[in-house]
Amino acid sequence: MNQDELKALVGQAALAHVVPGSIVGVGTGSTVNCFIDALATMKGRIRGAVSSSVKSTERLQAHGIEVLDPNQIESIPVYIDGADEIDHHGHMIKGGGAALTREKIVADLAERFVCIADASKLVEVLGAFPLPVEVIPMAAAQVARRFGRAYGGDARVRDGVVTDNGNLILDVRGLKISDPMAMETEVNQWPGVVSVGIFARHRARLCLLGTPEGVKTLQF
Ligand code: 5RP
Repeated sequence: MNQDELKALVGQAALAHVVPGSIVGVGTGSTVNCFIDALATMKGRIRGAVSSSVKSTERLQAHGIEVLDPNQIESIPVYIDGADEIDHHGHMIKGGGAALTREKIVADLAERFVCIADASKLVEVLGAFPLPVEVIPMAAAQVARRFGRAYGGDARVRDGVVTDNGNLILDVRGLKISDPMAMETEVNQWPGVVSVGIFARHRARLCLLGTPEGVKTLQF
């Protein structure tokens, strides 16, 4: 199976984790697109969705799935999203699709995060994938310099990308994230950082991993 087929497999498998009658938290990316298409087959059995990006909202609405404002919702049972990397504790790097801030907001509403990913995303240590950081434009150079000083990372503004919130994305290369919780906590405090793409506080509790042998379920 190729990577797209593995994504379709886990997108379909995620339906088993949707709670009938509930509002579903929906992430962003090509794996989530497969999940959204699968979700359309049970749209009559959910109350609607909370979305983490304009792109996912458009796809959900094109399927006739109602998208609710997160401000109207106190809690949802499950948030389903992909990852750029996931380690053996459920910590993730996210934001390859520049949606990390809204993804964290919706993940924060959810009782549990179910990650859907193909097997290439599972890593021993986070950091080979460039770490995305959403920053207020006027702080981009300062945050980039600070990454170099604090962690030896090489941070560059992602060309031509403006987030759904009107901000920039820095991609930080050369990191080896041995303590994701500590780095997430530290970087989130730097002035100008909107959010960092380390999901340790909002780690996955379950990962549906697409492998050539089928869907593997990892619990954390
Ligand atoms: C978007 C994300 C995605 O979940 C991540 O980039 C994985 O995407 P894909 O499923 O396309 O590989 O964090 O901001």
